Amino acid sequence: MLFGTQKINGRGHLEVGGVDTVEIAERFGTPVYVIDEEALRLRCREYMDAFRAEAPGTIVYYAAKAFLCRAVAALAAEEGLHIDVASSGELRVVLSAGVRPETIVVHGNYKKDEDLAAALDARVGIIAIDSVDEMRALSALAQARGVRQRALIRLAPGIDGHTLDAISTGRNDTKFGITVESGAALAAIVECLTLPGIDLQGIHAHIGSQILTLEPYELLAEKVLDVAKAATSRTGWTPRLIVLGGGLGIRYRPTDRPPAVRDLARAMVGAIRKAATARGLSVPTLGVEPGRSIAGEYGLTLYRVGPVKEVPSSEGGTRVYATVDGGLSDNPRPLMYGATYPVLLADRAGELVSRPIRVAGRHCETDTLFDVDLPPPRPGNILAVLCTGAYNHVMASNYNAFCRPPIVFVQKGDARLVVRRETEEDILRREV
Ligand code: LLP
Repeated sequence: MLFGTQKINGRGHLEVGGVDTVEIAERFGTPVYVIDEEALRLRCREYMDAFRAEAPGTIVYYAAKAFLCRAVAALAAEEGLHIDVASSGELRVVLSAGVRPETIVVHGNYKKDEDLAAALDARVGIIAIDSVDEMRALSALAQARGVRQRALIRLAPGIDGHTLDAISTGRNDTKFGITVESGAALAAIVECLTLPGIDLQGIHAHIGSQILTLEPYELLAEKVLDVAKAATSRTGWTPRLIVLGGGLGIRYRPTDRPPAVRDLARAMVGAIRKAATARGLSVPTLGVEPGRSIAGEYGLTLYRVGPVKEVPSSEGGTRVYATVDGGLSDNPRPLMYGATYPVLLADRAGELVSRPIRVAGRHCETDTLFDVDLPPPRPGNILAVLCTGAYNHVMASNYNAFCRPPIVFVQKGDARLVVRRETEEDILRREV
């Protein structure tokens, strides 16, 4: 399984963006995150083209939480995407990349007053309200500044996205959004329309991440437009913008078959149109917020293999442990979610003979990363983990006071450092 511009070159090495990954590892050290800039750009375009073909006004927000640094925010904006941020920290990074504030939507299930103030002061396009408490606070803060902030109300639609529990965001029993089933969501809309500091533009609803089927989106459109219809009957208000999520999955395993973006676009636009028309409502503008399915497949992590041990296996026979110079601190997802990834030896990618290998990290933790079939690794080999473009860099930590890896963008034979490696001085800098 290779992605984007990845290929195996004449030296039997994995190459990406026309650059040999072994050279990347030598030049920038390991572990290192490598981003395939051309493939990332094409994926942004694919999203824009697919949704604009179905409904020209559709807004594609890049969900910065999946992978954020200035370079990716700037790239997404250049490709015409708007940006979804989930904290004032993300907002700060995105603004510092030169993204226009009016193209930003701000999320977060607990936005503190200072987060709301930062968003208002930056004059962001939209704030997605997650609770009634937040709605009232936002109105007061906006009023104090003499502005009416454009906003969406986030609903908890009561839909299961059939993904991992930890990333299923749209059930009834959730901290996210305002419950539809109890009538709380409708009551919140009605109240919101009376608040002087808010200009309610529409509705947001999200069912989770790594979604691999299209059916939940239809159900979601029905639910959201039921609420919209009820609000129209009560108040005459109709939503102008409906932002739906449920991020498309990517191919972590050969058996993962995520729908194509054009099929997603057809399904989502079709569902909104059908649901609005059936209720006698004008068809709202659709917004979508992909993160993982933009960045995930176009990032990889390179590690250098260290000690290799053959030990008695609890399953009988022996097991080979190959240790890499990273792990939990640069990719917590195997331990957190049992996530799996495509793995190969970047400097021996052409070799066909393989055997089961357990790849472990170098943390003081039983941090098995992957059980995979590989040519038996030797110390010094370069191990590539593919599909780490989303939720790796952004979820990295300093566990064991390890320094977080740099980010290198590659394109057309060029490698450029966009985020440098963290240093021990960086870690010490916060000590008082
Ligand atoms: N919009 C909202 C409101 C969200 O809650 C999410 C993801 C997204 C957009 C982006 O979804 P995506 O396209 O990336 O699926 N840390 C977890 C992922 C948590 C995602 C939660 N919300 C992981 O590593 O799998």
